[in-house]
Amino acid sequence: MPPSHRFPLRLLLILLCAATFLPGSAAQVSPNTTGSSAPEAWWKHAVIYEIYPRSFQDSDGDGVGDLNGIIQRLDYLQQLGVDAIWLTPIYPSPQADFGYDISDYTAIDPQYGTLADFDRLVREAKRRNIRVMMDLVLNHTSDQHPWFIESASSRTNPKRDWYIWRDGKPRPDGKLAPPNNWVNRIEQTAWQYDPNTKQFFYHYYATEQPDLNWRNPQVEKAMFAAAKYWLDRGVAGFRLDAINTLFEDPNLTDAPAEPGTNEYGEPSLSMIYQRNLPEVHGVLRHLRQLTDSFDASFDGQRVLVGEIYTKSTAELAAWYGANHDELQLPMDTNVGFINRLDAASFRTKLQEADEQFAGNTPLFVFDNHDRPRSWDRYGDGKHNVEIAKMLAAVLLASRSASLVYEGQEIGMKTTTPTRKEDVRDPRGLAGWPKEKGRDGERTPMQWTGTKNAGFSSAAKTWLPIPSSFTNTNVAVESADPQSLLAWYRDLIKLRRSAPALADGDTVLLNRDPDNALVWVRRTKVASADSPAIVVACNMSAKPITLTLQADMDKLGIRGSLLRRLMSSGNSADSMSAQRVTLAPFATYIGEVSVSGSSVSR
Ligand code: NOJ
Repeated sequence: MPPSHRFPLRLLLILLCAATFLPGSAAQVSPNTTGSSAPEAWWKHAVIYEIYPRSFQDSDGDGVGDLNGIIQRLDYLQQLGVDAIWLTPIYPSPQADFGYDISDYTAIDPQYGTLADFDRLVREAKRRNIRVMMDLVLNHTSDQHPWFIESASSRTNPKRDWYIWRDGKPRPDGKLAPPNNWVNRIEQTAWQYDPNTKQFFYHYYATEQPDLNWRNPQVEKAMFAAAKYWLDRGVAGFRLDAINTLFEDPNLTDAPAEPGTNEYGEPSLSMIYQRNLPEVHGVLRHLRQLTDSFDASFDGQRVLVGEIYTKSTAELAAWYGANHDELQLPMDTNVGFINRLDAASFRTKLQEADEQFAGNTPLFVFDNHDRPRSWDRYGDGKHNVEIAKMLAAVLLASRSASLVYEGQEIGMKTTTPTRKEDVRDPRGLAGWPKEKGRDGERTPMQWTGTKNAGFSSAAKTWLPIPSSFTNTNVAVESADPQSLLAWYRDLIKLRRSAPALADGDTVLLNRDPDNALVWVRRTKVASADSPAIVVACNMSAKPITLTLQADMDKLGIRGSLLRRLMSSGNSADSMSAQRVTLAPFATYIGEVSVSGSSVSR
């Protein structure tokens, strides 16, 4: 039966089973949404929490996190207020790239648990109004995937064309050179010679991650079957790994040089023939048709999040699709990776995200498992907590869906290995010592100040526990109302309860002084119940005073008093919009409040 026709059957199951949860027949939950958008479009306001399963919670004492560990921590996630969790890959994998090299798309790697554990996770999460999203790696498989093993077995194997095989170029010494000059993500040739069939295969990432040939329709068919398998099991959608790299130039045109040098000091090569080819959009439209065919009135819409890094906001806009029919949430790293506290840059990027997405929802991202943590990229070593609170306000009080990476909410820092023998990330192993890899942002979650930070009972965890765990952990911060964790919880709660934060538009204010970033959120319909909200951030080490009244008057926002909702500095309960004072690196969130205060437009 097609998914869109299953609703009556599901309803019947719910009625019969009352509070019993069956795989794929979720409990009726009221989605964590506020505001006027239809509840099925839950993702428009979503806080999506990225879990790196190896490092979240170990339940069986082997030093590696697992699915049962995640289940143990669902209450924490519910208290934090997240709408969905995205799990980085948990499929069977030789772990050459810690799960991003998949050898079976419809099973669970035994080190993380079983399918029964997964189903339990989905059910238990739903009981807490949390949706589960999977990572879907479409660009490449593991070289241990049966598809690749078959493909590599002979030039005439039926799966030969599922991957990208090409002849090499004869060299004067009789050996073969790669088919062209393309490099991979670690700036080495993107071609690997196979002595058995005497051809090269293409890999945009590591050698163990051969690229699939998306020009072969059977590849799409097989991958979409895998996607449907998980959707049928109740997942709320996918984060699509490296989605802009699905296609390559079929003529294998050599990459032109780009200005500058790469991480190894060699001339940079452009990737225009390896990334962002227009054919990707066709695949995304098909995939969106698949996810949209699932009944939204029951579980909410299934969502497609895309991993895309772009140089500009305008470039990112294309990934929503000309008819809003591709990704619902391409990751916007343009705001989160400004990497310096420069109010003018934030103003520009926030404004662009508001104006250039044609009404689509941005998904702001400051942290993930591939980049040094924002704590270190923005922190000055002295005011890191205040700065982290400010970034959280940009992330959670803007018009956007928000991505939070595990540990970001407690201020975990990047702990990069100092010795090669400690490195686990293949990128660090290949690039050491210049490129130290991504282990630093993947260290285990710091839950307590006790053994292994409460992550595991093992004698040795897969990555060492950073020494910061004694002070930076969930237990300590839960008990402190001024902590970063408390700030995240309060902010997520506020975002749900204040209509202006849930559904309001964003107007950036005040260019004077330059180091203040100020914006107003206001709903379309004027109402005393949905007052405008002002968010003001001091991005400098000096106290500043702002005058907001004239800007507010221009916007037709009546009222001249601001009532404090949250602040990270010692600000008064109420302030005049004529004189808003902000301590160094302080963040202030207040609602416009006088008798009869409202928004008029
Ligand atoms: C992006 C993932 O986030 C990263 O961890 C992985 O190494 C590459 N894609 C390859 O799948």
